[in-house]
Amino acid sequence: MDRTKKLSGGKHPYFRHLYHRWLERIAARKSYPTKAKPGGYLVEITNVCNLRCKTCNTHKADRPKAHMPVDVFAKLIERIKAEGITTVGLHTVGEPFMHPDLEGILRVCKEEGITPALSTNAQFPDKIQDLWDKGLIYGLRFSIDGLALVYEQIRVGGRWAKIKAALEVVRDTNKGRHASRLPLTIDCVICKPNLTQVLSGQYLKYMSHYTFPHMVRFGVVNGLTPDQQAFEEMKSDGVRYVPAIPCAMIFNAIYFNNKGEATLCCRDYDDKLVIGLALDTPILDLWGSPEAYRLRDAHIAGRIAACNRCTKPWPGDVQNLNNQIRKRYYSCA
Ligand SMILES: C[S@@+](CC[C@H](N)C(=O)[O-])C[C@H]1O[C@@H](n2cnc3c(N)ncnc32)[C@H](O)[C@@H]1O
Ligand code: SF4
Repeated sequence: MDRTKKLSGGKHPYFRHLYHRWLERIAARKSYPTKAKPGGYLVEITNVCNLRCKTCNTHKADRPKAHMPVDVFAKLIERIKAEGITTVGLHTVGEPFMHPDLEGILRVCKEEGITPALSTNAQFPDKIQDLWDKGLIYGLRFSIDGLALVYEQIRVGGRWAKIKAALEVVRDTNKGRHASRLPLTIDCVICKPNLTQVLSGQYLKYMSHYTFPHMVRFGVVNGLTPDQQAFEEMKSDGVRYVPAIPCAMIFNAIYFNNKGEATLCCRDYDDKLVIGLALDTPILDLWGSPEAYRLRDAHIAGRIAACNRCTKPWPGDVQNLNNQIRKRYYSCA
């Protein structure tokens, strides 16, 4: 056999197939190189949630519901800090304010000099006030997918009155001057039930009483809904979707589930992308481990069912919706 044939896997179709898969994987790795260090660190302090949002699979996931013990969190923070990291997100799936000792978690952050990033469904105005008074929070992200009844229709179990109370807590804290003390980001996931309200500019106008308009961000629902039927019901007409493979997350950021295991997806609802226990191994060793590369290859090759099911909105359509919302807001503000 000459050298060219040998290199291309020879005559046998199976070996030729293997050879081409290998080439594809090299190409994918080259176009999506794994970062030397993860670009983001997010810890799931709990996968328990008080809501059953129509966009989110948390309530249907099989993984047992549990809170991360504070001592496990402290150990993990020690490892993360050893890598020079100073900001850590306290959510993946689940609601951080459901953790029974969120104060203990935030105290660990304060003692270790870590800034906690908190994303919440904003159903806990009293707890927000209490933790602010204790000097334990530095910024918040509220996830609010609509106003009034539209909100309650999407965020099942959530009460609009609580949202208003949480927004008032932040406004009073800032004494009417946006972000002067407690910066607030508000995220809205655009989907079928809120499209008309959001495009009318009404939503942005309302939220701009509580934070700067540029800190109100609009995403579009992606394929991380509970199932295909829910996705079909929630996705907006006129938004095109593309497969989520290759997904930036798996090459760029690291996540930790409530047991302290490192995983490569922020929505690893059922622990399918776990790369090892981060409490007894340096995080960078896990990040560059054979298991991490095996999973990245499996992702590219379409061998991870959860990734195959996932879709994302085409960025051009997301930008287009954002342009329409801002144009409408500024023309009638
Ligand atoms: C999973 S939640 C966890 C933190 C917290 N419970 C909250 O609601 O902010 C994180 C973010 O994901 C967003 N989200 C949930 N399902 C989504 C979907 N199918 N597509 C896009 N974003 C989604 C939520 O709106 C929220 O801002
Ligand atoms: S989006 Fe947040 S609040 Fe809604 S169900 Fe998921 S984790 Fe809970």
